[in-house]
Amino acid sequence: MKFLITAGPTREYLDPVRFISNPATGTLGYFLAKKAMERGHSVSVISGPCNFPEIKGVKKIQVESALEMKSVVEEKFPSCDALIMTAAVSDWRPAKRYGKKLKIKKSWNLKLVPNPDILKSVAKIKKVNQVVVGFALESASIIENAKKKLRWKKLDVLVANTVENFGDSSGNNEIFVLYPDGKIKDCSGYSKRKLASFLVLEIERHNKLKRK
Ligand code: CTP
Repeated sequence: MKFLITAGPTREYLDPVRFISNPATGTLGYFLAKKAMERGHSVSVISGPCNFPEIKGVKKIQVESALEMKSVVEEKFPSCDALIMTAAVSDWRPAKRYGKKLKIKKSWNLKLVPNPDILKSVAKIKKVNQVVVGFALESASIIENAKKKLRWKKLDVLVANTVENFGDSSGNNEIFVLYPDGKIKDCSGYSKRKLASFLVLEIERHNKLKRK
């Protein structure tokens, strides 16, 4: 299979030296890429700025902003069998990117505009035999919110986890994997490595079912 994996954060620049971002590390994306490669798949990773290590045999495409990530995903998605969107895409970007470094001011209001939802745009061009996996990071009502996201983004698999799992954590908190048929698998306590292995096998299973 051809796997396309997004990982890490995005950076939304305000001027040449300042940006808004988040502490995503790309670790889950790394374990997914490694596992998929070990299983004999062809793997491409679209990574935002993080220390995503080189993996022999895995193609890495470096991006910075959500808009850049969106354009590479849209270019690569039509030829892949599975897209796994682990990236913590910034939901907003500054309305204006200044060309010169801003001078200090006492206080001011920064206007943000929403970034496009990459998974939502992928849903529009998705073919029936493609598997799309999304993530949901929730502070509360994890299952209810995740169910909505699964439908809204037309996903085949949605991994819901809590904000405690974000960033540098070892990932041993609440994790639920949801499917469109209503099934929910409780993966709470899985390490990121174990979750990655589980997801790669799940994607293979989905791919086989879709090809029948
Ligand atoms: N995502 C995306 N494009 C965005 C924002 C998020 O494709 N502009 C993807 C992420 O890669 C992830 C999923 O959508 O797979 C869910 O991201 P999350 O931040 O949990 O949810 P949002 O859809 O942004 O909704 P909210 O923050 O309101 O819960």
